[in-house]
Amino acid sequence: MNFMSRRNRLPPWHEQFTLVNGQSLLIRPIRIEDTEPIFSAFSMYGPESLKFHFLQPTKELTIEMVGRLASPNPKTEFVLVAAEPLPAGKALVGAIAHATMLSESNEARYTILVSQFLAGMGVGRKLMCKFVKWAKCQYIDRLGSKVSRDNTPMLELAKSLGFKCRSENDDTELIDIVLELGPQPTLHSQSLPP
Ligand SMILES: CC(C)(COP(=O)(O)OP(=O)(O)OC[C@H]1O[C@@H](n2cnc3c(N)ncnc32)[C@H](O)[C@@H]1OP(=O)(O)O)[C@@H](O)C(=O)NCCC(=O)NCCS
Repeated sequence: MNFMSRRNRLPPWHEQFTLVNGQSLLIRPIRIEDTEPIFSAFSMYGPESLKFHFLQPTKELTIEMVGRLASPNPKTEFVLVAAEPLPAGKALVGAIAHATMLSESNEARYTILVSQFLAGMGVGRKLMCKFVKWAKCQYIDRLGSKVSRDNTPMLELAKSLGFKCRSENDDTELIDIVLELGPQPTLHSQSLPP
């Protein structure tokens, strides 16, 4: 590796890219300094209904909750943001993705929220691909989430990455989706609904 490529290499889980609208974004692990920018900009993340998918089961966001999100337990949690390429604390954060390992099984659950100003520009896919990579690096058997039945963007994104529907109960609003990562899947997954 020559000097230039070493100098340009970003730290782990960092990726800088340019959106179709010319805006530069940096995907990176969350930092405690992101607490205030996320808290103050949360109203811009989109309609309440979408934020609810991220925050469930609570609808209100407090600064303590953001502070908790911004200081993940490195052994059990992984939180990425897509932000302006500025120092944390000064950068606006446009997307947050959180994964946590379940203590009772070798499984991780994720939630993701992309601001309405960035929606449909590939940020969600990049974050999800990094989560799948992280889950594989951690030797996690399954990566899953609960997604509202009417959340077409998330269901389509998940389906394109190979997620299946683990259990579908017509009575509930939420669909339990899962990506099998272990060598020998033991669950009988169903295809996601169209
Ligand atoms: C779901 C969500 C993360 C997608 O993020 P995004 O950055 O807008 O998605 P992308 O631009 O990366 O699109 C990825 C894929 O999602 C699907 N998708 C995105 N927007 C869509 C839409 N409006 N309708 C249907 N499918 C859509 C497509 O399959 C798309 O595939 P493509 O890459 O071939 O275009 C985002 O809409 C979001 O944050 N929603 C609110 C929070 C939420 O519902 N989280 C899920 C619960 S954990």
